[in-house]
Amino acid sequence: MELSGHGVLVTGGATGIGAAIATRFLKAGSDVLICGRRADKLRELQERYPQLRTRVCDLEDPTQRVALRGWAISEFPSLDVLVNNAGIQQRIQLADEPDWDLIHREIAVNFESHVHLVTLFIPHLLRCQQPAIINVSSGLSFVPLARVPIYSATKAAIHSFTLSLRQQLRDTPIDVIEVIPPGVNTDLGGPGLHTWGVALDEFANAVFDEVQKPDVREIAYQFSAESSRASREALDAIFERMNAPG
Ligand SMILES: NC(=O)c1ccc[n+]([C@@H]2O[C@H](COP(=O)([O-])OP(=O)(O)OC[C@H]3O[C@@H](n4cnc5c(N)ncnc54)[C@H](OP(=O)(O)O)[C@@H]3O)[C@@H](O)[C@H]2O)c1
Repeated sequence: MELSGHGVLVTGGATGIGAAIATRFLKAGSDVLICGRRADKLRELQERYPQLRTRVCDLEDPTQRVALRGWAISEFPSLDVLVNNAGIQQRIQLADEPDWDLIHREIAVNFESHVHLVTLFIPHLLRCQQPAIINVSSGLSFVPLARVPIYSATKAAIHSFTLSLRQQLRDTPIDVIEVIPPGVNTDLGGPGLHTWGVALDEFANAVFDEVQKPDVREIAYQFSAESSRASREALDAIFERMNAPG
């Protein structure tokens, strides 16, 4: 896809992978709206990039998703790219009677909100010239990390949903692209918990090299390129390696 001339909404666009996507679209000449819960993080990025438009929004709440759609389209009627990026990651021990609200929050943000936003935006996107939906899944969509069981399951769900979405939209102008990050050094799960992994700029540069190619559908990198293309046998071996005790 072309990176310039779009109107792009990036959920969770103030930090990490979302901010890297938002600023690359902005620098390429697109208009960009970002949302997230923390006003200070939105403000921080907007101070560096004053053209960014921002909105405080909690995507766990369905009414705020509907309000986000209304705001985004009225703020920017030619919005034509939705980037479903917002996500949280929680370490949950399933045998320790975890609180259901905690579990549901992860399902609501990582999966329900993406599905809901897609259905809310499709009618608008269908009226655009070169619209796209970009869903951010994970290398863990293909092989779960057991200490983040709900996270891994929501990411598997996003991958499955993206395949069905692309199939259902095949005769429309809407491109459906899946970005499948490997471990990337961000604040996912909380500051200091995810410092391992690929450097953010390295990953974002690789994504934007790919996204500009014609007919791109899935963009993976390193571990996620391996897991998203692995045989069941290879996935079993990766699962054992990743989830080895100790
Ligand atoms: N880093 C990795 O290794 C990795 C690997 C695979 C996939 N991913 C995926 O990449 C995406 C971005 O994650 P990241 O690594 O860049 O971590 P991050 O910096 O923590 O980004 C997550 C973003 O989502 C926003 N968000 C979380 N809950 C929200 C809610 N209820 N409503 C609105 N916004 C919300 C956060 O902003 P607020 O907290 O201010 O709301 C934050 O800006 C996620 O979907 C993640 O699953 C990351």
